[in-house]
Amino acid sequence: MDKKGRVFSGARPTGRQHLGNYLGAIRNYVALQEDYHCVYCVVDLHALTTLQDTEKLREWTYEMALDWLAAGMDPDKGTILFVQSHVPQVTELHTIFSMLTPLGWLERLPTFKEKVRQQPENVNYGLIGYPVLMAADIALYKADTVPVGVDQAAHLEITREIVRRFNFHFGEVLVEPQAKHTEFPKVLGTDGEQKMSKSLDNHIEIAATPEEITQRVMQMVTDPARRFRSDPGHPEVCNVFALHGYFSPNEVEQIERECRAAEIGCVQCKRLFAQNLAAYFAPLRERRAALSARPDDVWDVLAEGARRAEVIAEAVITEVKDAVGLPLRR
Ligand code: TRP
Repeated sequence: MDKKGRVFSGARPTGRQHLGNYLGAIRNYVALQEDYHCVYCVVDLHALTTLQDTEKLREWTYEMALDWLAAGMDPDKGTILFVQSHVPQVTELHTIFSMLTPLGWLERLPTFKEKVRQQPENVNYGLIGYPVLMAADIALYKADTVPVGVDQAAHLEITREIVRRFNFHFGEVLVEPQAKHTEFPKVLGTDGEQKMSKSLDNHIEIAATPEEITQRVMQMVTDPARRFRSDPGHPEVCNVFALHGYFSPNEVEQIERECRAAEIGCVQCKRLFAQNLAAYFAPLRERRAALSARPDDVWDVLAEGARRAEVIAEAVITEVKDAVGLPLRR
C-alpha cells in the first residue's frame, strides 16, 4: 500500500485517557495509520513547562502509552510511537529555531497569555518557547500533516512561519506542515459546562470499568431546562445526547424523539449511555489488561519507537546544521 505522507502529533503525558482525548485525538490517530506514515509522541518535555512536580511523569507516560496501544495505535502498522525526551535532537532543532523566532510572535499568542494568567508565579523561559519546541517536533520528522484540535491552530501557524523563515534563509530543507483539524466538537465534562479534563475531575476514562463508567455517567448534567420527568427535553443542548450520537448510533434517533416527547427520562437515557459506553470500550479494556500484565513491553515499544525516530531525526538535524552553516564535526 502506498501511504500519502507523514503525520506527526504529540500529546502531553496526562495518564489514563478520557472521552475528550479519545474523540478529539486518539480515534483520529488510529484512523490515520491506514493512509499515512504516523509518528506519535508523548511530549514529556512540553509537560515540564507547566508541571509543578514531576513525580507523576513516568507513570502518566506509561498509562497514556498503554491507552494508546490498547486503542489501536500500532507499531505493526508502521507507526512510530515514542517519548519526546528519548530523541534529544529535538532540543537542538529547538535551539536553532529559537534564533529564528521573533519574541513578538510568541508573546501575543492567546495560549501563552492564558498560561501567564494561570501561573503568574511560573512564567518561565520554556513556557514562552512552547510553540518553538512544538515546531521542532514537527519539522524534525519533516511531517506534512498534523492532526490537532482547533485550540492548536495558532501553534501550528507558528510552526509554518518558522519553517518558511528557515527555508527562506537556508534553502528548502524543511517541510511546511498542514493542520488536519478534527471534526468532533469540544467534548464537555460531566458538569455539562466545561471542557472534559482530568484536572477538573469532570472526565470519564476510556478504560474505566463498567461500574466506574456508570457512576460517572449518572453524575452527568443533562438539559437544565428539564426539571421534571414529565418536562419535554431539548437534546440539542444536552451533553449526554451529544455523546449518544457517537456511542449509540443505532438508538440516537429514537432517543431524540422520546426525549422531546418526555417518553424517556434522563436517568434511563444515562443508563443506556453507560451501557453502550462500557460495551464500546470492552475490547480496549481487554487489550489494556493484557498489555499491562507485562509492563516492560510498553517501555520496549517506546524504546523501539525512539530508535526508529532517531534515525530520521539524526539525518534531518545533520541536514539542518549543514544548511545553517554550522561547522560539521568530522
Ligand atoms: N501543543 C500540543 C498540545 O498542547 C502538544 C504538542 C506538542 C503537539 N508537540 C506537538 C501537537 C506536535 C502536535 C504536533 O496539545
